[in-house]
Amino acid sequence: MKKLLRALVLFVSFPIFAQQGGMWVPSLLKGMNEQEMKSLGMKMSVADIYDVNTSSLKDAVPQFNGGCTAEVISAKGLLLTNHHCGYGEIQSHSTVEHDYLQDGFWAKSYEEELPNPDLEVTFIVSIHDVTKDILKGTEILTNEADKKALVQKNINDLQKSYQREAWQSVMIRTFFEGNQYMLFVTESFEDVRLVGAPPSSIGKFGSDTDNWVWPRHTGDFSLFRIYADKNNRPAKYSKDNVPYTPKHYFPVSINGVEQDDFTLVYGYPGSTQEYLPSFAVEQIINDLNPAKIEIRDKALKVTDGFMRQDQAIKIQYASKFARIANYWKKWIGESQGLKKSNAVTVKKSFEQEFLKRAKKENKMNEYGNLLPQFEKIYKDITPYAVSRDYFMEVVLRNNELLSVGFRLFQLENAYEKVGEQGFNDRKENLIKGLESLYKDYNKNVDQGIFEATIALYGTKAPQNLTPDAIKNKDYSALANTVYSKSALTSYEGLKKILNGKAVDVIKNLQKDPGYALAKELSNNYFENIAPSYDKMDLELDALQRTYMKAQLELFPDARIFPDANSTLRVTYGKVNGYQPSDAVTYSHVTYLDGVMEKYVPGDYEFDVPKKLIDLYNAKDFGQYADKNGKLPVNFIATNHTTGGNSGSPAIDAYGNLIGLNFDRVWEGTMSDIHYDPAICRNIMVDTRYILFIIDKYADAKHLIDEIKIVKSKENKKSKH
Ligand code: ARG
Ligand code: ASP
Repeated sequence: MKKLLRALVLFVSFPIFAQQGGMWVPSLLKGMNEQEMKSLGMKMSVADIYDVNTSSLKDAVPQFNGGCTAEVISAKGLLLTNHHCGYGEIQSHSTVEHDYLQDGFWAKSYEEELPNPDLEVTFIVSIHDVTKDILKGTEILTNEADKKALVQKNINDLQKSYQREAWQSVMIRTFFEGNQYMLFVTESFEDVRLVGAPPSSIGKFGSDTDNWVWPRHTGDFSLFRIYADKNNRPAKYSKDNVPYTPKHYFPVSINGVEQDDFTLVYGYPGSTQEYLPSFAVEQIINDLNPAKIEIRDKALKVTDGFMRQDQAIKIQYASKFARIANYWKKWIGESQGLKKSNAVTVKKSFEQEFLKRAKKENKMNEYGNLLPQFEKIYKDITPYAVSRDYFMEVVLRNNELLSVGFRLFQLENAYEKVGEQGFNDRKENLIKGLESLYKDYNKNVDQGIFEATIALYGTKAPQNLTPDAIKNKDYSALANTVYSKSALTSYEGLKKILNGKAVDVIKNLQKDPGYALAKELSNNYFENIAPSYDKMDLELDALQRTYMKAQLELFPDARIFPDANSTLRVTYGKVNGYQPSDAVTYSHVTYLDGVMEKYVPGDYEFDVPKKLIDLYNAKDFGQYADKNGKLPVNFIATNHTTGGNSGSPAIDAYGNLIGLNFDRVWEGTMSDIHYDPAICRNIMVDTRYILFIIDKYADAKHLIDEIKIVKSKENKKSKH
């Protein structure tokens, strides 16, 4: 109970207590955070972090491929991000003959840098509050769907009309669940080439066993380079493009980090849900996470079995496996953490306090009904939400034949609307788009996944919302029928069945057992699940918007930050260890010694490359060792991060790069829903380890020469 009270007090009365986490909008740091940042040791001003008129740190921090962050670390557009963020690109250049995942890759010159047709990085030029423009006219509307439509129209209008340069784009996002809107002017570069990557035995050391875990020993980094046209503007790939000259790039510090040092992580956190009512958290713990975990558990076991037997399958499925395994493990940790930190009870106590304040402020008319309404809708929506997750996980995310079937189902549906020509255009796009899926497709693996996951869907999803086609079946026989007869098990089969006039294509598709099943599951989703789910979900959106507004109003000192929404944010804290459980204390830094302690020769997760062992034995760490002669590998701090922050720069008090963010600790993975400053930590690669690998392991001295290395504490501000 004491713990609960403490958490509650912390939440409602910030300034008295220790720093609380939060993901802050960089253009709004001035009044909100500057003082606290300085008290934590920051020596920069907030204008050094974000400024529109002169260059600032933000000009070196693009979003990487929509889902990660990266930072520019040289005057020639050299870009640092995680190994796991560049994984798809590294994989796409790999074959069994030259396997860059296994052996690493280092371009010796610009000419050897490898282009990536689907990769782009996006910088923020400026941020503007446009709440008034977006909410214009919505005040008088009472119907939620009408409101939503008008907001969308206002967004579209402003997006079109907003002044920008020809090569720039405009993006509008909501903050505080519909209470605030921000507009971002952005610049995207599409010619981004692979420069270097360590072997997976460094870049992914510890693999899935160590994923989400501290102590950690992973060199999770890779290097890219941004290319621009002759005027330094974004351009499609061309041999004539030149390395981009950034407005700002990070000097890289090798001074090292110590306990309590100030750290700032700058990046693009994807999504959090910090302000949910207790009923939503109960639903996550009791219903949604267990269903999703069980499905992925099955899919992963099947895939792992095949990957261990066949090197080609291992390459084909490496990226997919890592993606599926990542959130599978995260949900397990999240559920444990939510239970252990009593998140539901903490939320319920908060809700009591909320009601007390609503009464005191005479706001019961407006806010008194929120919690009972939440409770009712969360109860009603749960079977639909669970069925929806079965459909999403089984059909769209884990099984590739069914996911192709779903895309074809959309194609068939489009026919009536777009006619023969539109159908053919879409069909051609789809065929092109699916080429890369089939490049890494193996029929046997997919059949195994199908059999295991369809069985779960058929037996464990709410039965009244599950179609008969998969209820009480012999799932092995079903899998055999589908995979021996369907054309969708190969790219050739797909192209063949899509060949011809629309009516004939559609007729042939109906006869395909793989397509027929995907269609039945999709129809069931759209007819029996989505309508009710979407209706209640819209009601929840509206409630959450009001609940958010109410929290902002009734807790004026709480310094509430907006949930993550894939926009640029600043989070800051201190280098610090933690106590995960009774009598256990973790310190804040790991060393190369720990890599050697974990070393298992020949193991696919814990092997160590010979050259690294030699460097370790010779203690040949160059200028990168700490004052005790040890080589630091990873460190942790109290920055509040989430998915999307991978690849984010960890910055010291002066604006130098000291680390590369890539993960969080196991006990703190619930931070997306319930942040607990005692145990939530982010994990970073120490820049000394990164430079050591580039310099001593890869011998890529030309890259070291390109980077501005900061060696002494006196070398302060990076800017001006
Ligand atoms: N957990 C980290 C994040 O969410 C790293 C994931 C990549 N590593 C892996 N073994 N799957 O992205
Ligand atoms: N590993 C995550 C990412 O890829 C970061 C996190 O969830 O902490 O963004």
